[in-house]
Amino acid sequence: MIGAGTMGNGIAHVFAQSGFSVSLIDVSAQQLEKALATIGKNFDRQVAKGSVTEEVKSEALGRITTHTTIADGVSDAELVVEAATENVDLKLKIFRDIDAAAPQGCLLATNTSSISITRIAAVTGRPESVIGMHFMNPVPVMKLVEIINGYATKKEVTDTIVDLSRKLGKVPCVVNDYPGFIANRILMPMINEAIYSLFEGVAGVAEIDTVMKLGMAHPMGPLQLADFIGLDVCLSILQVLHEGFGNPKYAPCPLLVNMVMAKKLGVKSGEGFYTYTAGSKELVVSAGFSR
Ligand code: CAA
Repeated sequence: MIGAGTMGNGIAHVFAQSGFSVSLIDVSAQQLEKALATIGKNFDRQVAKGSVTEEVKSEALGRITTHTTIADGVSDAELVVEAATENVDLKLKIFRDIDAAAPQGCLLATNTSSISITRIAAVTGRPESVIGMHFMNPVPVMKLVEIINGYATKKEVTDTIVDLSRKLGKVPCVVNDYPGFIANRILMPMINEAIYSLFEGVAGVAEIDTVMKLGMAHPMGPLQLADFIGLDVCLSILQVLHEGFGNPKYAPCPLLVNMVMAKKLGVKSGEGFYTYTAGSKELVVSAGFSR
């Protein structure tokens, strides 16, 4: 498992819980420590709810080892899942390094939310073994794995990853490699439209989110969800859709662009459409949007 951020620790959690040995790799030893603490905390939550026993938790934690170099962590891997920052150049470099260090026959998956699988596969010597495995946040809770076939992905590789996803207790959905795949091709225009509705003064933050939560039974309103995903991530996915299809309907709302430039990134920066205080789930509409 490459990358020990939010997605990386969640993916490591579900693999370890399902009985797989996991090498969790990150350049930062401090990030690795933080990830192990988060995984432990999320298991505690499951233990408290009774969905997992103390024994399952301690066995799962015992299956996770940590490494600070790719060469060290992937030397005997059967599958590498990458969940580094959404930056094309970084991912291409990581895939060159994985390809050089992973054994022959090892499958390579990326958790990218929008970067082309075909482009990533092309920098490796095994494009037929590269696939998208797109988990949703929070990984231990969300059932979906969007499986993305690159242009060269072999059918046997897709079948293996579909079976594996089921072993993780997830529901796999296989899609093809076009901008945004399915999840973000549909989710991001909805979020962008919510931001446009705010930008144009049609309604306030609380009203927009309440309409979608109570009217459409969404667990979070689109503006809260954008804060949860990260406004920088939403902007970068919309840019991929806009450039990839050349269709102005995907153009990111200027308000989103401004908020990202102002470093109002949502939960991770403490402020987006709402403000966040550590440990509190209460939603306070950000001062910039109060009327
Ligand atoms: N690890 C383990 N369990 C967790 C968890 C975590 N990180 N976070 C929450 N949970 C569990 C809780 O223990 C609780 O379990 P029970 O149902 O057994 O009680 C359950 O999840 C619900 O949690 P809470 O009661 O704390 O909070 P909630 O009811 O408000 O639900 C939520 C939280 C699951 C995040 C819910 O708000 C939700 O589904 N939100 C939408 C999430 C979503 O859309 N995710 C996809 C984002 S898009 C993406 O990830 C991909 C991309 O490319 C952008």
